[in-house]
Amino acid sequence: MANYCFSQLIINWHHNYGRKNLPWQKNKTLYKIWISEIMLQQTTVKTVIPYFKKFIYYFPNINTLSTSKLDSILYCWSGLGYYNRAKNIYKSAQIITTEYNGTFPHEFVNVLKLPGIGRSTAGAILSLSLNFYYPILDGNVKRILIRYYGIISSLTDKIIEKKLWTIIELITPIHNTGSFNQGMMDLGALICTRTKPKCEFCPLNKKCITNIQKQWDKYPIKKIKKIYPQKTSWFIIIKYKNYFWLKKNTTYNIWKNLFCFPTFYDEKTYLTWLQETKININNYQKMISFYHKFSHFILYIQPVLIQLSNISNFCQYDKQGMWYNIKNPQHIGLSKPVQKILDMFKQDSY
Ligand code: ADE
Repeated sequence: MANYCFSQLIINWHHNYGRKNLPWQKNKTLYKIWISEIMLQQTTVKTVIPYFKKFIYYFPNINTLSTSKLDSILYCWSGLGYYNRAKNIYKSAQIITTEYNGTFPHEFVNVLKLPGIGRSTAGAILSLSLNFYYPILDGNVKRILIRYYGIISSLTDKIIEKKLWTIIELITPIHNTGSFNQGMMDLGALICTRTKPKCEFCPLNKKCITNIQKQWDKYPIKKIKKIYPQKTSWFIIIKYKNYFWLKKNTTYNIWKNLFCFPTFYDEKTYLTWLQETKININNYQKMISFYHKFSHFILYIQPVLIQLSNISNFCQYDKQGMWYNIKNPQHIGLSKPVQKILDMFKQDSY
């Protein structure tokens, strides 16, 4: 067998085994690749697919995106998490409309200026859509390089990252950059997986230090098991027939601009709130509690159900609140736990 170089092995592997039929790869456009790359940040391909399809259905181009309301963009993003990504897409669409006449920029520096786009994402967007020569370095690519070259990480993350950029700049081919970059990401996701890599199927296995030394436990990158802080919250579910009272979250936190049940972080405050809203608190019912994991903490959620038989004087002056109809839902952004609770009621109501 010819001694192919690293990049050629990857391109050949991608040609034979890589993913080429993902929804954003069919009738490929810069717009679709942009949206998919933002969705794929911190999220797997499998999770992204239905969200991407829904997003493109509602927002087929930059113009529809920039003239829509943030609420309807968050509606399509509901449950995908990391909502800043959706907000950044919205901000980017405004910038693209005003500064680039509605066309996604082709210049790397301009792509990099858009909110939420770093060097690797900018490289991915331009290489995957236009086959421009830009290297990428996401988690999958890092893992392959660290294993292949046997890079021991006693160095700081920053120094390692710098080294890895230097390496990937050297091995990324000038031609076929798109297929090389996609091949690296696919190889990382399908073969060079974090646990139990399938080295027998890897095109790089003959020269990969980790495989030659059979030292999979040494490279990389043991995720240090973090102990996440935990927070307790009460979701107050006010139900009237098919309607649920939701409020737009205006505080600056992870769920800013999403609609949530009235949420409290201590029991006393929510009991006071109930008294103020003149709800009969003898009539509440604790539902099954559950945990929701964020990237940096765990939220313990205790839903409390209050069923109203009359809403005539309930929160009528609250402009941030709305009655959400589960049988004919409004297009607004919902967090995953809120969606989960509403889905439970939806199933019960049919
Ligand atoms: N992660 C980020 N971008 C990706 C892509 N284009 N394909 C697979 N995984 C990815």
